Amino acid sequence: MTAVDLACAIPNNVGLAQKPELRRSLEWFGVEFRKWWFDCGPAGVRDNEVYLRTPVGVDALGWARYGFVPLSQYRWGVFQAHEKPGRLALFGDIAGRPVWQTLPQAHRDYVRKLLVTQGDTEPGSVEQSRQLALTAPSLYDLRNLLQFSVEEGRHLWAMVHLLFEHVGAGARDDAEGLLARRSGSAGNARILDAFNNPLQDWLSYFMWCFLADRDGKYQLLSVSESGFDPLARSTQFMLTEEAHHMFIGEDGLRRVIQRTLDLMREHDTDDVAPHGGINLATIQRFFNFWAPRIYDLFGSDESPRAADAFFAGIKGRSHESNYDEHVRLDEGTVSVERRSPDASGGFVAVQVPMKDALNGVMRQAYLREVTMLMRRWNKMLARAGAGPEFRLPSQRFNRNFGVYAGQRFSPQGDPVDEAVFAARRGVWLPTEEDRAHLRAVQQPVLGRGRVAGWLAPPARGINSLPALDFDYVRL
Ligand SMILES: [Fe+2]
Ligand SMILES: [Fe+2]
Repeated sequence: MTAVDLACAIPNNVGLAQKPELRRSLEWFGVEFRKWWFDCGPAGVRDNEVYLRTPVGVDALGWARYGFVPLSQYRWGVFQAHEKPGRLALFGDIAGRPVWQTLPQAHRDYVRKLLVTQGDTEPGSVEQSRQLALTAPSLYDLRNLLQFSVEEGRHLWAMVHLLFEHVGAGARDDAEGLLARRSGSAGNARILDAFNNPLQDWLSYFMWCFLADRDGKYQLLSVSESGFDPLARSTQFMLTEEAHHMFIGEDGLRRVIQRTLDLMREHDTDDVAPHGGINLATIQRFFNFWAPRIYDLFGSDESPRAADAFFAGIKGRSHESNYDEHVRLDEGTVSVERRSPDASGGFVAVQVPMKDALNGVMRQAYLREVTMLMRRWNKMLARAGAGPEFRLPSQRFNRNFGVYAGQRFSPQGDPVDEAVFAARRGVWLPTEEDRAHLRAVQQPVLGRGRVAGWLAPPARGINSLPALDFDYVRL
């Protein structure tokens, strides 16, 4: 087990003190990363002291320390979960054999692409959300955004570390590319489409953390039991940090909905916008906007590449160890939709062997989790006698990739023609009026003890501190 080295300029438990070449590479990256951070990190907060958690170890208890850190001096580190001596590969053709500590040449290109694609999402989400630091609804929320931002930054470090230590040739070019692409750039955009949509309001940010960071969780879970052990251990530790991001989204949305219900009761109306709240219908339209962008991230349900990565032992299913069979993938079939062969423009459901639809398996597991969590909000609506219930849009609705791209559907998944879609657009998707209202109500509220009027106060603070009566960010 490699000890945690906090004295090193790059805090780490990957033995940088004994790996001078790797250390020099990461020091070079650190200089470039900071240039990127000051250009693309949270706007308007630079040297301020922020109450942050910083990793100091990788044990389940006490892995992080809380305290004030001047944001400009945050030390990004490289951490992996502990190695488990004698660990055997769980799935694929290598199941039962010792896991790899070095990357086999045969899998180099696939893993390089995986690391770059995952790595690219991390700075992408920081860039997307950078302007929100200027309109935070409380010091608590601002602190959470900054915590999210430094951790997404550290996730980039985790991927760059693996590129330098295990992929080798080309790693420096890859690292440069990861810092050079920009969310939403016309000429040099982030790799995945979802990461090129700016988060212009906090409702979108909460949806992002709820939906997209949860996609991140499933992507990380699928490699957290990889036969390439350094990848498994890096992503296991990333998952520890990811939990807070999903909490930001889930609890943020709960607070928005709670406030809306309170205003509805107080003013006896569904239209709480004149009272500074966000209408339930607006919230549903934002779900309809963001969910398809996240569905796109799962790739096509049917994917030969995903099968190859499984049998290679690199990328499994989420919670692979919960399945009974890990080698042949013949324990069942998966239902997927294909375009119907009769040129009607319709779709037919087909049962395919699990190995042929691993992306679909992951997407369906993700949807079950999201649906279960949304049920809690629907219970809040039911208790308040409000409705209709929040619903995720159909998999078919407003997709940019996959079998449904280029066709029009209602959020319920019924085919509609262009004229109907155009006529219903303002009911189904956020309107300019919705966005203008969010801009109007989402003014910064950054005084101690205060919180904006469009969401309920947080139920509790960070690390047992008061939720509002504490200066989480010293402005
Ligand atoms: Fe991340
Ligand atoms: Fe995240």
